Amino acid sequence: MPELKSLDEIIRTRRASSDFDGSPIPDADLKKILDAGREAPSGYNIQPWRFIVVRDPGQRKKLRGAAFAQQKVEDASVVIVACAALKAWQQGDLELVIELGIKEGFVKAEGADGMRQAVEGALSAPPGDVCGWGPDWGVWGNRQVMIAFTHMMLMAEALGYDTAPMEGFVESQVKQVLEIPQQDVRVVALLGVGKLKGQDKAYGGRFPMEHTVFENSWGGKVSF
Ligand SMILES: Cc1cc2nc3c(=O)[nH]c(=O)nc-3n(C[C@H](O)[C@H](O)[C@H](O)COP(=O)(O)O)c2cc1C
Repeated sequence: MPELKSLDEIIRTRRASSDFDGSPIPDADLKKILDAGREAPSGYNIQPWRFIVVRDPGQRKKLRGAAFAQQKVEDASVVIVACAALKAWQQGDLELVIELGIKEGFVKAEGADGMRQAVEGALSAPPGDVCGWGPDWGVWGNRQVMIAFTHMMLMAEALGYDTAPMEGFVESQVKQVLEIPQQDVRVVALLGVGKLKGQDKAYGGRFPMEHTVFENSWGGKVSF
């Protein structure tokens, strides 16, 4: 097995790539990338992500049309469309999470009812301030899915691939192309994975620490 790039190196050298050579990705690598997404943490372990792996050239062409004609949608080895299934927990997934927890020893059989009540209570909280629950399901879904998305992006980079995160798409059109349900599912982001063609673009730079990191309260100056 080839050695994986270190996390430190990935963070220093990863670029959002624009040009891919279109070479196919072996199933074994794709599986590792998807497994990295599946292993992500989520609130109550609800795992509301759904990933659509798009390799078919016809589908990629249509998907590109829903993504502001970005060439990389067709040229990457694969595009993973990361979605949030916002109500899956009410449609059976909560029970599956409890069963899984019992099987793995994380939940005791006698604790199942307590867990069910806790999760249902929290996720059915009235509109308000509770961690963005209530009406703000878009924030909730985004919060969970982007961690899984980032796991996949970093695993792809660790395996020696280049990656392209994308928010440039029309959600309704992506839904139409990929037959994603209109209700209760959001398309969060697209991830192109492949081998770079030519040179990556230059580093765009980042704000200095004091611009984006605060200490103790908003605007508080960091002490290092
Ligand atoms: C959530 C997200 C969405 C993005 N959407 C697009 C996109 O649709 N098209 C594109 O060319 N780049 C897109 N990018 C890439 C950013 O422009 C890029 O990450 C940023 O300029 C910093 O460059 P770097 O990732 O190479 O360091 C996106 C990045 C993120 C994280």
